[in-house]
Amino acid sequence: MSLKYILPALAATQAVFAASDCSDTKIKTQSDADGINSCSTIKGDITIDKSYSGDLSLSGIEKITGGLKCSQGANVSSITASSLTSIGKVFDLEGLTTLTLLDFAELDSVGGINWDALPKLQSLSFAKGVTKAGDVSITNTGLTDLNGIQLQTVGLFSIQNNRDLKTININNLKNATDSISFSGNYDTLEVNFPNLGTGKGMTFQNISAVSLPSLETLTGQLGFWGTKFETFSAPNLTKTGDLIFKNNDKLSNISMPVLKTVDGGFTIARDDDLNIISLSSLQRVNGAIDFSGTFNKVSLGALKDVAGAFNMQSTHGNFSCSDFKKLKNEDVIKGKFSCNATNDNPTTANGTSGTGSGTSSGSGSSSTSSGAAFFNGANVPVVGIAAVFGALASML
Ligand SMILES: *[C@@H]1O[C@H](CO)[C@@H](O)[C@H](O)[C@H]1NC(C)=O
Ligand SMILES: *[C@@H]1O[C@H](CO)[C@@H](O)[C@H](O)[C@H]1NC(C)=O
Ligand SMILES: *[C@@H]1O[C@H](CO)[C@@H](O)[C@H](O)[C@H]1NC(C)=O
Ligand SMILES: *[C@@H]1O[C@H](CO)[C@@H](O)[C@H](O)[C@H]1NC(C)=O
Ligand SMILES: *[C@@H]1O[C@H](CO)[C@@H](O)[C@H](O)[C@H]1NC(C)=O
Ligand SMILES: *[C@@H]1O[C@H](CO)[C@@H](O)[C@H](O)[C@H]1NC(C)=O
Ligand SMILES: *[C@@H]1O[C@H](CO)[C@@H](O)[C@H](O)[C@H]1NC(C)=O
Ligand SMILES: *[C@@H]1O[C@H](CO)[C@@H](O)[C@H](O)[C@H]1NC(C)=O
Repeated sequence: MSLKYILPALAATQAVFAASDCSDTKIKTQSDADGINSCSTIKGDITIDKSYSGDLSLSGIEKITGGLKCSQGANVSSITASSLTSIGKVFDLEGLTTLTLLDFAELDSVGGINWDALPKLQSLSFAKGVTKAGDVSITNTGLTDLNGIQLQTVGLFSIQNNRDLKTININNLKNATDSISFSGNYDTLEVNFPNLGTGKGMTFQNISAVSLPSLETLTGQLGFWGTKFETFSAPNLTKTGDLIFKNNDKLSNISMPVLKTVDGGFTIARDDDLNIISLSSLQRVNGAIDFSGTFNKVSLGALKDVAGAFNMQSTHGNFSCSDFKKLKNEDVIKGKFSCNATNDNPTTANGTSGTGSGTSSGSGSSSTSSGAAFFNGANVPVVGIAAVFGALASML
């Protein structure tokens, strides 16, 4: 037999062997799936071939130790797995452009979720609800909510560009061990983490509401860009990494009454409705304080230590720069100091405009020049190219 015939024959034997062996399985038709229905555990991956067409039922299988995947299966219209309780590795679906139903009544635990480009998928039929997951990334789906994802533990949690998403309730998550991020979703998306007490970083863009009533500490960044809410309230938050509020044009009230420590920089810029900044418990900022905008009042009554620079600029602030200058003189503020309560064009420390209506061009030049100092000379690109050649050379 020539190699030409051996290879497909081998592949066919393997497929048959695989099925009876309940290990790695590729599914092209429903009968391929029926062939593994007697396996309560699949020791390996189930891969749905991109040529699969119509509804797929994986009945009988309770556990997959590997992943459940399908890439570019444009004609897969539904996937039902009535007995499946766990997927060991990633539940990975990409480019299933006509998929309307995921029916996983018993699914409880997944190694990870990676769903991308599932535009017709509007809701999940996960009756039991997924409580344990590794990294979760849900991008470009038609989902209107995430009901069925009831996480108690999760790794990275990233929800991007789901333009129909309106509410997310992550009720059972108490301790997030990796970053959580939202961006490019529907502008009226409301995000609720009612029981989240501790976490790493959390970043929010393009949302209309966020609720973090129990949050006490974050070790990473807490950031808000382009949100549509009026009040941000974190009643129990005592400590966070970098804290950023930028371009939130409806934000008028930041309420963090027990915030004591920002373990990084604290930036407020281009939040044009913000009138009063009151941080009555804030003692320590381990980076810079950089507030610019149109706010009127600033109260930082408990400040004891600012390790970085201090930039405070407003168009019509009713605060006293000399009070802050005193903090600089007393060495509470360690870095560069600048303050102007009545600057027509308030800017951030790096020179970009501090107001949404302002232009960033004029003073922006200073930021360009100071920024350029970091990358002076041709060193950076040359190192980059050398590294690429080095890598190529090592592969030869
Ligand atoms: C989906 O079905 C259409 C029409 O039958 C076909 O042209 C297309 O190739 C199929 N797509 C895939 C990925 O098999
Ligand atoms: C949260 O989880 C991390 C990692 O498992 C752990 O180190 C930390 O102690 C937990 N925090 C709380 C408050 O349970
Ligand atoms: C806020 O913190 C206090 C004290 O740690 C705690 O008793 C209270 O339950 C917390 N509130 C929420 C909503 O978690
Ligand atoms: C998200 O907000 C940013 C502002 O931070 C804005 O430039 C962008 O257009 C918004 N994106 C969407 C999809 O609404
Ligand atoms: C800001 O919001 C907090 C929490 O919702 C509220 O208690 C406080 O009264 C508000 N302050 C102003 C000035 O509206
Ligand atoms: C500025 O604040 C003081 C009290 O801190 C107040 O007496 C004064 O009227 C305010 N001025 C303006 C213009 O709002
Ligand atoms: C504040 O900025 C304005 C320009 O808008 C300038 O005229 C004024 O001198 C500045 N005040 C201080 C204290 O630097
Ligand atoms: C300067 O600030 C702008 C907006 O605040 C930011 O996008 C940019 O990354 C900053 N640049 C540097 C060099 O920090």
